[in-house]
Amino acid sequence: METPEQLRDILLKEAADADTLDALEALRVSALGKKGRITDLMKGLGQMDPDARKAAGQALNALKDEVAAAIDAKKTTLADADLDRRLMTEKIDVTLPSSPQADGYVHPISQTIDEIIAIFGEMGFTVAEGPDIEDDWHNFTALNIPPDHPARQEHDTFYLPGEHGERKVLRTHTSPTQIRTMTAHKPPIRIVVPGRTYRSDYDATHSPMFHQIEGLVIDKTSHMGHLKGCLIEFCRAFFEVDDLPVRFRPSYFPFTEPSAEVDIGCTREGGGLRIGHGDDWLEILGSGMVNPNVLRNCGIDPEEYQGFAFGMGIERVAMLKYGIPDLRTFYESDLRWLRHYGFRSLEVPGMVGGLVR
Ligand code: PHE
Repeated sequence: METPEQLRDILLKEAADADTLDALEALRVSALGKKGRITDLMKGLGQMDPDARKAAGQALNALKDEVAAAIDAKKTTLADADLDRRLMTEKIDVTLPSSPQADGYVHPISQTIDEIIAIFGEMGFTVAEGPDIEDDWHNFTALNIPPDHPARQEHDTFYLPGEHGERKVLRTHTSPTQIRTMTAHKPPIRIVVPGRTYRSDYDATHSPMFHQIEGLVIDKTSHMGHLKGCLIEFCRAFFEVDDLPVRFRPSYFPFTEPSAEVDIGCTREGGGLRIGHGDDWLEILGSGMVNPNVLRNCGIDPEEYQGFAFGMGIERVAMLKYGIPDLRTFYESDLRWLRHYGFRSLEVPGMVGGLVR
């Protein structure tokens, strides 16, 4: 067996030579572990006489501490060197173009907006947009919404402080963009307006933020027949049922006169909901001929021009078309949900992907 002095030289050299953290750990076990070389020497102390044992014991303890310190010091050196090496080699060049994301999905909201715009685009509509934060005039007054209308109530609507004591409002529908378009452009007008809207609601079919798409047509010869033809065509194209029954049910909106709610045919037989021929109806949008008061508010002469408008909830038609049961899941950013209900970016809108019939 080596003397403690010989063992000291051997172990310190081994520590100096160890060039990986693994090698260093192996050395620690072989020197200081239960069956290690220093531990072995310590076991020999039992056979010594008391005086010799005391001196040898102190020497071995010192040896143990010295070797442990050498191993620790070398460990720090190796870890620092490893970090330096990684900092040198694992550089990220943030100026490089990103690689194409193989795993991306289009959210059903974006997909549905694209599909709706594509259908109205074929009919000659262009896309207009308006701000989420509106003023009272565009969101209510100019749209002929009377002061006591429920949409104006505090608990239904989100108000914000505005300038000069005039409060602002998170738009409760996309209809204010009708006003913005009619005051900025001369007719003829043929627009669709997709965007976010806000109401103080929250349950499985309502969310404080949701999306609508608005339509507006203003021309000298537009009439109710155009409204009906345009919306029947849209419903059949969007739900991909050529002879889908579409019903116009008298209704009321302050900004249209006459007004009609649009229903599509469906059946609820056997529990599920199937869109198409059936014994039941499902409401999907609001519409009507633009109220002459609204035209006048925008400086358009109702004796010369008339037109129609419509509005629908994007989430609602997306839920119906793609069988999504809970509105709240649209905004949870759950990637498993997106992988299930989302769309590949180059997928042809609507033709595949879980249409519920
Ligand atoms: N703005 C109405 C709503 O949010 C929908 C609508 C738009 C109705 C245009 C008629 C004409 O409920």
